[in-house]
Amino acid sequence: MSISLIAKTIGESATLKLNETAALLRAKGEPVIHLGGGEPKTKTPIDALVTAAGLLNSAEIRYTPADGIPALKQAIIRYTDEFYNRKVEPENVMASGGAKQAIMVCLQAILNPQEEVIFPAPYWVSYPEMVKLCGAIPVPVVPEDGTFYPRLQEIEQVVTSYTKAVIINSPNNPSGAMYSEEFIASIVEFCEKRGLYLIMDDIYHRLLFDGRRPINCYNYAKDTSENSKLVVINGVSKQYAMTGFRIGWAVANKKLIEVMTNIQAHQTSGPSALLQYAAVGAINGVQSSVESLRLTLENNRNVMMEHLGAFDGIKVSPPDGTFYCFADFSVYGKDSTKLSRFLLDKVRVVTVPGVEFGMEGYLRLSTCGSIKDITVGVERMKWALDPNSPNELYIGDRKLVRDWT
Ligand SMILES: Cc1ncc(COP(=O)(O)O)c(C=O)c1O
Repeated sequence: MSISLIAKTIGESATLKLNETAALLRAKGEPVIHLGGGEPKTKTPIDALVTAAGLLNSAEIRYTPADGIPALKQAIIRYTDEFYNRKVEPENVMASGGAKQAIMVCLQAILNPQEEVIFPAPYWVSYPEMVKLCGAIPVPVVPEDGTFYPRLQEIEQVVTSYTKAVIINSPNNPSGAMYSEEFIASIVEFCEKRGLYLIMDDIYHRLLFDGRRPINCYNYAKDTSENSKLVVINGVSKQYAMTGFRIGWAVANKKLIEVMTNIQAHQTSGPSALLQYAAVGAINGVQSSVESLRLTLENNRNVMMEHLGAFDGIKVSPPDGTFYCFADFSVYGKDSTKLSRFLLDKVRVVTVPGVEFGMEGYLRLSTCGSIKDITVGVERMKWALDPNSPNELYIGDRKLVRDWT
């Protein structure tokens, strides 16, 4: 079959594939524990449902402006004022089919073939593929000190005349690390000085632990004019547990938003009207569900850390936020894909191989399920990997016997 050169370079989404595998196994009655998920399990905020139902009841669900309905743009403007203390206008905002599409359209608007985009590792699985979809080159930077906290120097070292943009995601998927205020300040200043786009993927910015507060990149921007190349990405997926609604957004200078809107208009005509209404409800509605989710995730993080603490040989540092934990399992196998497959085959626990995030030897474990998922999931992993485990394990009334060393 003849397919494009770009298409040939694009791998499947490892995380979406794992969701599919877990669902298939569950459908067959397998006792799967999904520690690979990237979505909170709490219910959609009632305000989102009521607002969407209002439109549904009208039985008039039409095309919307490609950059979003005015009510959603207003909600995003208010959100940006509240959380970033930044006053923007409707022309600075574009709503999209998830934060994912907002990032993708932004990259399509700024990148020429062969240009480079830098992002720290570990990184969200989609960044390299999105950059490649533009015919451009992803440049991941692995922190040399073995931590999950990048340093400006390391980013500076890989900047070339082809560098067009830097993507920063903090708190980070998969590590849960929240980068320091000094780092954010320095990267904002650096990108301004070098004329680089800085895409701040803030999708997890309200899901922070231990009293941490979101860091506002605009506080460090000297250029607040319409020439600013700072792009802030956010959405309803994670903070409002609305992954299936597929609404995200970008806030940027007016020219860039205009170009992005033109691209989006030809790609999808903009996000679904119904789901935009739901997002308006969530953003403008009662916010207690966000804090309640945050508290649950903090507690789940603590439980995960406690259980991983009893796991010989693995190295893990407590995530500062998000609902992921990125643990070094290299003592049990350097090939994270093989290790992840082994855990799924032997004890039906889904994990995501670290290699998908640019770091071999690690596994990403998700804490967005129940406490039972975390405790039983880690227990099963320990049984499968620890050579000193008893020979048998019961999963329900199913007896597993270790036939490996
Ligand atoms: C870092 C990061 N950015 C963006 C997204 C995409 O979010 P959305 O569901 O709004 O497209 C995700 C989802 O997993 C993510 O982890």
